[in-house]
Amino acid sequence: MAGTPGRFLAAVLLLVSSGLHRSSTCPDSCTCPRAPLLNCSSTGLSSAPRLLRDSVAELDLSHNLLDSVSLDQPHRNLRDLWLGDNRIARLSLCVERNRGRRRLRGSRTWRGRGCESWAPALQLLSVERNQLQQLPQGLDGSESLQVLQLSFNRISTLRPGELRHLRQLKELHLQHNLISSLHPQMFQDLVQLRVLDLSFNMLTSLHPLTHLSLRNIGADVRLGGNRWQCDCSMRSLRRRMAFDGSRGLQAWSLVCASPSVLSGRNLLQLEDDDLNCFRTENGPELHRDVTVYRGSEILLSCAPQGNSHKCTIT
Ligand SMILES: *[C@@H]1O[C@H](CO)[C@@H](O)[C@H](O)[C@H]1NC(C)=O
Repeated sequence: MAGTPGRFLAAVLLLVSSGLHRSSTCPDSCTCPRAPLLNCSSTGLSSAPRLLRDSVAELDLSHNLLDSVSLDQPHRNLRDLWLGDNRIARLSLCVERNRGRRRLRGSRTWRGRGCESWAPALQLLSVERNQLQQLPQGLDGSESLQVLQLSFNRISTLRPGELRHLRQLKELHLQHNLISSLHPQMFQDLVQLRVLDLSFNMLTSLHPLTHLSLRNIGADVRLGGNRWQCDCSMRSLRRRMAFDGSRGLQAWSLVCASPSVLSGRNLLQLEDDDLNCFRTENGPELHRDVTVYRGSEILLSCAPQGNSHKCTIT
């Protein structure tokens, strides 16, 4: 009789201590060299842990076989996340619907326009060398993000407004992707931006407003290895860049890819007359639709022609 409660107590103690033990050690094959770091790099992982100790602030899952990564609930301590060299084609920072206990946890990270982020305190997100075709979803829930590393993916389009809330962002690495065009206001809210690397994409032209906003922010913009098409639409940009150069501001390096006669030439070393648009001799005049964004200025030069005036955008 006397032995039974004692044995019961011992069993309870054992359960408690094994529970404590499990939560304080490192998951199999990962390393935890310092308390906030969980390093599962190069461990052959094919699925990411869905649950994470609350104390983890740095999570390295790089060099694995991951197709996707998602956590079940917001991790307010998670600061740095490395996912490079995996197979991720789509990444969402949104807590998945019907997972976790979102409704019970209040709505502090819930954003009406977006989603509840599982990484609301993220400062560094590194997803280079994966198969992303778009920017990660739910980025606007990580307003503290400072470094976003997305190079060597297959990103082809950036949707306007996707980066609008990243007002702390200092570095945006998009080199070696498939981006072919940029919305003129894409980067205008990134007031802290220091480095924007767009080199080795498929860009053919740059809207003067993009230049204006990035120049005002003062970012170091890298544009090499694109498909810059140096035609008449580049005149305005060339003039703005030349003007900056004359004021001692750092000039961007934009090397023409086409037309072939200008291939390899730096835009800044060209004259307006070099930047031509195809026009058939005695053929119809070249007309183009021009989109003017709210708040931007355009310059029209008009000359009398017959009974009316003919205006062109310079
Ligand atoms: C994780 O470990 C690898 C070596 O296994 C190392 O190269 C990497 O820098 C570590 N990650 C961090 C964030 O310290």
